[in-house]
Amino acid sequence: MEIIVQETAEQASMLAARLIAKTISDKPDAVLGLPTGSTPLPLYKELIRIHKEENLDFSSVTSFNLDEYLGLGPEHPQSYHHFMYENLFNHINIPAENINIPDGLTENVPSFCIGYEQKIKDKGGIDIQLLGIGSDGHIGFNEPSSSLTSRTRIKTLTPNTIKDNARFFENESAVPRHVITMGLGTVMESRECILLAFGEAKAEAVRQSVEGPLCAMVPASVLQMHNRSRFFIDAEAASKLEKVEYYNWVFSNKPAWQQFEK
Ligand code: GLP
Repeated sequence: MEIIVQETAEQASMLAARLIAKTISDKPDAVLGLPTGSTPLPLYKELIRIHKEENLDFSSVTSFNLDEYLGLGPEHPQSYHHFMYENLFNHINIPAENINIPDGLTENVPSFCIGYEQKIKDKGGIDIQLLGIGSDGHIGFNEPSSSLTSRTRIKTLTPNTIKDNARFFENESAVPRHVITMGLGTVMESRECILLAFGEAKAEAVRQSVEGPLCAMVPASVLQMHNRSRFFIDAEAASKLEKVEYYNWVFSNKPAWQQFEK
């Protein structure tokens, strides 16, 4: 696990965007796992800029989104479909047929989920999985107590997550109770994971995920078992980490060949 602390969310996002851009330049048919939420927005903006100004080509890229609200169709302004098109897909040259997002209107959730997993396999697996984190430590919509080996499935949101996400809806009761999310086992099979966390509200979840025990009650702690996982966080999200000086020391003492492109 590598903990990369930057002063601001902007700086952390720029570094992570470079890594994703490099993955795509090295492997033009890369498979990306993508999150929603406010956290990845600066990174998506930067990817759009790199696409427009440096010709980063998404024409052979495939994407799989982590999750979607059940009951919301793709046109619903709060659906993750809508979010992804508004904030990324409408601004890059990824072909529509390469975009995969769980179907919030599916009539057969279990069979949809099996198909989603199969599609990821058929594409050769996810090369780089981008993640945010909920204030309770969830990734995707894998709420506390999610099995560490779970697969894509339905989940019921916790009252805490409903409250956190109510800011995007008219009120708390408009937030769907159910979602489809990739499982922790699905995320763990990706070749590389990048988790972004910004702001003080994420500091406790980051501390528990990085320095706490591996535990289903803190779903992001499963990344301790991933052989290529990196946390890109800002100073506020890092504020509760005990070993932050060590993480910074590691980052500034990387051998030249391991240093990040800026
Ligand atoms: C939702 C999403 C997660 C995201 C989390 C945090 O619950 N399902 O993927 O990481 O929100 O959102 P934000 O980045 O807005 O804090």
